[in-house]
Amino acid sequence: MLSANAVALAYLAASVLLILALKGLSSPETARRGNLFGMVGMAFAILVTLQLESVHNYAWIFAAIALGGVIGGVVARRIPMTHMPQTVAFMHSLVGLSAVLIAVSAFYDPVAYGIADAVGGLRPASRIELFLGTFIGAITFTASLIAFGKLQGLLSGKPLVFAGQHVLNLVLGVVMLAAGIMFCVTQGWLPFLLMLAIALVLGVLLIVPIGGADMPVIVSMLNSYSGWAAAGIGFTLGNNMLIVAGALVGSSGAILSYIMCKAMNRSLLHVLLGGFGGEAGGGGAAASVGDRPVKAGSAEDAAFLLKNARSVIIVPGYGLAVARAQHALKELVDKLMGMGVEVKFAIHPVAGRMPGHMNVLLAEADVPYDIVHEMDEINAEFADTDVAVVIGANDVTNPAAKSDPSSPIYGMPILDVAKAEHVIVIKRSLSPGYAGLDNDLFYMDKTMMLFDDAKKASEAILQALD
Ligand code: TAP
Repeated sequence: MLSANAVALAYLAASVLLILALKGLSSPETARRGNLFGMVGMAFAILVTLQLESVHNYAWIFAAIALGGVIGGVVARRIPMTHMPQTVAFMHSLVGLSAVLIAVSAFYDPVAYGIADAVGGLRPASRIELFLGTFIGAITFTASLIAFGKLQGLLSGKPLVFAGQHVLNLVLGVVMLAAGIMFCVTQGWLPFLLMLAIALVLGVLLIVPIGGADMPVIVSMLNSYSGWAAAGIGFTLGNNMLIVAGALVGSSGAILSYIMCKAMNRSLLHVLLGGFGGEAGGGGAAASVGDRPVKAGSAEDAAFLLKNARSVIIVPGYGLAVARAQHALKELVDKLMGMGVEVKFAIHPVAGRMPGHMNVLLAEADVPYDIVHEMDEINAEFADTDVAVVIGANDVTNPAAKSDPSSPIYGMPILDVAKAEHVIVIKRSLSPGYAGLDNDLFYMDKTMMLFDDAKKASEAILQALD
């Protein structure tokens, strides 16, 4: 068994590895190494924790690790990349649930958790920790379940708004806090359970008004909440490692939410309060696509435009992931570059269905990192580009975000595809994207629609180039 100092040092080393993991994950080039640091750091933290004097019941612990490991392994292998956001949301719900269950058992038996005062009740500081851990955990649990349901299509992606929603949330929030304070003062089960029940309801109420288009920020916020809930458990269990790991998840999730809010021109405060989805699209609500004429072309037409271009910028979107077209697209890019065409990728911060979705897909197909550019870096280059190819993307190119103040996505920065000399849009139909909006880009004179699956279209263009 390690001495207290050795445990502290080992936890410090594990914490440094987790910080290096976050640093690595901030760029696709170093993400694999970052992941490895995270895995080693977490394994090290678990091993050190397992040898602590306070840890008993190894049979239960190993049975739980084996069961959870097998379920996690099977799920990770089976889940397609396109279902990752709901999987992440579901996992956050489990973190929230564990925070609540640990808080309930710690309150039930404070002596077993080493947080009892002289007469067997809870120490004052522990009451506050339990209060915070319980309500953050409970909100995370139900909010994540609703986000999972919306993303998985089990619940409607449309915002559910009703009169007095904010006032109701405010009143419930105040009653919940009052019950929590009452619990801290009296240590009674009644205020504890009342606080817990209201937090569970609040988790649902905060998420139902949020529409599909705003869900990415919510998943990232829930990531942050789940980190704070874990940090809360860390205080209850008196475990510094859990406090540090939870705080890292909590703060990195909050920073990511802020970055995404900026990318979508949303206010973080509105996300925190819930109910800002009413002003946004509505996740898959079909837009009325009228009879406006479009110019449709074939793979051969696209090949002709591309082979005569000096510069091409490719804008990938969610449809690339659905079609699993990244490898076929990479072959097409190799071919074009071999023909002397300058090819670059432009990545919108919320393209796809999760942060970094497009970067992961392109990395999987070994697209060189130096031709993959974030929106801010490359947006100015569209004006000097011969052909912009939009493949499986929609909302992130919608000019209404700039020109139509009545549009639900007005203010969201977009990729300036329309400034290129020619635009090729590859998608299967004129169907709207996630925000449920028609896209004026499709009807522009310079735009050629190539109606096909992204993978089939990439293969057909490659064949036509051959
Ligand atoms: P979307 O606007 O959702 O458009 C995707 C397009 O892909 C659709 O219009 C669809 O048109 C097309 N598509 C689907 N399957 C295809 C296939 N097999 N082959 C070719 N095309 C296919 O995607 P986007 O431009 O990437 O924008 C992302 C949207 O999702 C934003 O509104 C964003 O706010 C939201 N969102 C983002 C995230 C994160 S964190 N990135 C998370 C949740 C939601 P057809 O059906 O006509 O083919």
